[in-house]
Amino acid sequence: MTGASRGLGLETALTLAQAGFHVWAGVRDTAGVGTMMASARERGVALVPLQLEVTDPLSVDSAFETVARDSCPLFGIVNNAGITARAYFEDFPEERIRKTFEVNLFGAMRVTRRALPLLRKAGRSRIVMISSIGGRIGSMSVSPYVASKFALEGFSESLALEVRPFGVDVSIIEPGMVKTEIWDEDRRILSQARDGSSPFYEMFWKAEAMTEKALANSGLQPKDVAQCVLHAMTVPRPKLRYVVGGRARLVIALFRHFPGFENFYFSELLRRVTKGGKRASDDGSAAKRTAAHG
Ligand SMILES: NC(=O)c1ccc[n+]([C@@H]2O[C@H](COP(=O)([O-])OP(=O)(O)OC[C@H]3O[C@@H](n4cnc5c(N)ncnc54)[C@H](OP(=O)(O)O)[C@@H]3O)[C@@H](O)[C@H]2O)c1
Repeated sequence: MTGASRGLGLETALTLAQAGFHVWAGVRDTAGVGTMMASARERGVALVPLQLEVTDPLSVDSAFETVARDSCPLFGIVNNAGITARAYFEDFPEERIRKTFEVNLFGAMRVTRRALPLLRKAGRSRIVMISSIGGRIGSMSVSPYVASKFALEGFSESLALEVRPFGVDVSIIEPGMVKTEIWDEDRRILSQARDGSSPFYEMFWKAEAMTEKALANSGLQPKDVAQCVLHAMTVPRPKLRYVVGGRARLVIALFRHFPGFENFYFSELLRRVTKGGKRASDDGSAAKRTAAHG
């Protein structure tokens, strides 16, 4: 399990351990081990911490050397580690775009490639990819994240065909919005998006307000995602895709079954962020809001 220090990863690691799995709980920074283990003690389960920085080949190699030495064979991996940041595309520094792909796509590929010999050897095993509804439908302010998750979906779908003959099943989990630290404003909003001189400033903050509202109204909990991963890990014939959350399921179903819905959906999003004018105003109100947003 990658990214088990907090959020969906921690809840999933605890849920799998509770169900009887021997869980290697990957943590990027060992400073996070204390709180992770305290959560495990509270739930009365055991996790085995494993230093695992998915962008570092040496860290991934060393983690899998440890796993391979264990007497318990590897049954499955969960590629959960993920990052995001929010700004309109033109405001995104290239290095942040690359970093997003390094973690969300290349990190998952690196871990998967290193795990595959062990998973093939097991004969019957699982790979679970934590994607997102953003792996199916685009949105403003998160184009690098969405691009990385679309890529993760394409990778996973293709990989599934390659490894199924070896008894390895691949499942892609697509959660809607769940309140975790990934949504912390300081963590997610890039300084470029806070700059009142950005031509996207007004639209960006309207989109953020919509996002905040949707997040506050989302009934989804980390445990819903964790239960879905447990299901994909334990059912005899797991599906390739699982959408988590009623709203996410509804939107994806509307996209799939009603060809006209896509245009309506994107036009409506655009209408909401452009109503009242799309450019940053010149009267200083944008600068005032920059200060208000920190
Ligand atoms: N929350 C949502 O609304 C939502 C919705 C759909 C999909 N997802 C996906 O679910 C996954 C988990 O998200 P979350 O909401 O739980 O986020 P989170 O609370 O920010 O947790 C992210 C986890 O990934 C770890 N991580 C980040 N970079 C890493 C790296 N380079 N190597 C190893 N671990 C790394 C973090 O470790 P540190 O603590 O060391 O930083 C942390 O454990 C992500 O893939 C995300 O895209 C989330």
